[in-house]
Amino acid sequence: MTRANLSNSFKIDGKTGSSDIKVGGKLEDISIYSRDRHTVIITDSNVSGHYRDRFGNNEVITIKTGESIKTLQTLEYIYKQMIFFEVDRNSLIIAIGGGIVCDIAGFAASTFMRGLDFGFVATSLLAQVDASVGGKNGVNFDGFKNMIGVFQQPDFVICDLDLLDTLPERELKCGFSEVVKHALIADSNLFNYIESNCTNALGFDKEVIFRMVDDSIRLKSDIVNKDETERGERAKLNFGHTIGHALQYELGLNHGEAVSIGMVYASALSVIKGYHKREDHNRIIALLQNLGLPVDIDFDITEICKAVKRDKKRNQESIKFVLLNGIGDCRFENININELEKVLNDLRQFFEQ
Ligand code: GLY
Repeated sequence: MTRANLSNSFKIDGKTGSSDIKVGGKLEDISIYSRDRHTVIITDSNVSGHYRDRFGNNEVITIKTGESIKTLQTLEYIYKQMIFFEVDRNSLIIAIGGGIVCDIAGFAASTFMRGLDFGFVATSLLAQVDASVGGKNGVNFDGFKNMIGVFQQPDFVICDLDLLDTLPERELKCGFSEVVKHALIADSNLFNYIESNCTNALGFDKEVIFRMVDDSIRLKSDIVNKDETERGERAKLNFGHTIGHALQYELGLNHGEAVSIGMVYASALSVIKGYHKREDHNRIIALLQNLGLPVDIDFDITEICKAVKRDKKRNQESIKFVLLNGIGDCRFENININELEKVLNDLRQFFEQ
């Protein structure tokens, strides 16, 4: 690793393919892969507005923006465009965008003609630290988040930190939420580092952002290399996401904001259960607030309960929650579906104390 010139690379070797991940790569590096190959780029209207002139001579499929377009209808549009561009089994698909573009383009590439080669240029912090890495591709369906999808590793992921310059501040903060998640489940040093460098992170200091991306990908690729298809350890990455996804859907928060509140609730539940100290819980709240993220919101317990029950992380009887054993370590705990409402009421009381 060379933090001095802010570049590093990682590898994921899975049953569904191998990924070369370049932190500090450049958008123009797509020419290394697209040279001599029929290549189609999938992007969204926002990213295209900023960077279209850097896509080379490749054909481009442009989709709209926002969680509401992560649907089978958008997928159908992409398939039709692929047919229009005469994509065949030797073609290469490159997604250039944030998490939504990567998720949906990865799914399109993994399923069109039973699977094409594909890679990502992640343009948002959220995509760089999480969504582009690890081979989860898919779309939402009928009110269920990421319900239809496949595991398939992209051949390459380029995290070009300079592309974050055009990211709105709210989106940057949402990426911070997933970085804090990685620190909480697995790396107390990273947590301490973010605590000491909040102002620089918000001021977009490149070295601080590099450390956040680099450490996040190191942690995530380590976990995915051990458990690619989420039979065990990978489920740690769902910390804060059970309540987070429910809040995202019910209240229309964006992903990072919903996960921030979800992590606070999961941390509080860890305190109630006696696994985690209240003072560490308070440090987490302070850190998220210092990063400009929300830590609570008013919600209807019955509605959120219904949404949590729809989560695909549940089995028939229970939901697998990720709880903290302190900062930098976590554990799983199954919570019976019937106890969920009581747990949410206990949490509400905890916050009122
Ligand atoms: N975002 C969680 C995972 O990739 O497993």
